[in-house]
Amino acid sequence: MSARGYFITGTDTAAGKTHAARLLVEALKLRGLRVAVMKPVAAGIDADGMNEDVRLLMSASNVAAPLGLVNPYCFAPAIAPHLAARLEGVSMQLEVIEQAYAQLAVQADVVVVEGAGGFLVPFNDACGMDAIPQHLGLPVIMVVGLRLGCLNHALLTAEAIRARGLILAGWIANRIDPHMAATADNLASLRSILHAPCLGEIPWQGDAAEDLGNIDSLLQQVFLPRK
Ligand SMILES: Nc1ncnc2c1ncn2[C@@H]1O[C@H](COP(=O)(O)OP(=O)(O)OP(=O)(O)O)[C@@H](O)[C@H]1O
Ligand SMILES: [Mg+2]
Repeated sequence: MSARGYFITGTDTAAGKTHAARLLVEALKLRGLRVAVMKPVAAGIDADGMNEDVRLLMSASNVAAPLGLVNPYCFAPAIAPHLAARLEGVSMQLEVIEQAYAQLAVQADVVVVEGAGGFLVPFNDACGMDAIPQHLGLPVIMVVGLRLGCLNHALLTAEAIRARGLILAGWIANRIDPHMAATADNLASLRSILHAPCLGEIPWQGDAAEDLGNIDSLLQQVFLPRK
């Protein structure tokens, strides 16, 4: 059986997509699932030539997969990926990502796919990163980086997801700013206006899979209805 897949987007770059995706992978593994990971497009590499997000995601996954499938496109400059691709003379294609995803999906129960930057960051001259979940047919999980301005970013992102006919499967509240004022009130507002399940709240410096305890409702509704 082919896996369920989820596309992880965020309210912005550095909203905590990788951090939340890792915890999501851990939470799914605790439920006995084989969880593959994918970062289709990455920009920025370490001294060893690897992207940090890719390394973190691969270290969380319990499905062994070649780097080329997990991360089909990796560019050295830590800049917007379509600009990095242009600098390196690469024309990114959705079909390459689709083929890699298909190979991961046959080995896993769930594939957690992390986007790059925010939801509408350009992919190539023809489309944005939003084309990836559209092309792969994936529901989207939005990581809300809790900081001043996040209500607007979250609403715009949710609207863009739904405007493309995609399912907003849920959202994750990630406390990236320990000094944010009125956090509880902001969270309450998000809960009332997003009309999608909150899968969990990750505290500042929180690193526990249990922080995503609400994924059980998602598992029942979306992941495993076929059993
Ligand atoms: N809950 C948290 N508490 C403290 N630090 C956090 C938290 N979540 C994320 N961070 C830190 O914030 C930074 C950005 O997080 P992360 O890399 O997960 O964001 P991202 O959305 O994946 O960014 P990118 O757009 O580069 O992929 C990282 O240094 C991460 O360790
Ligand atoms: Mg990331």
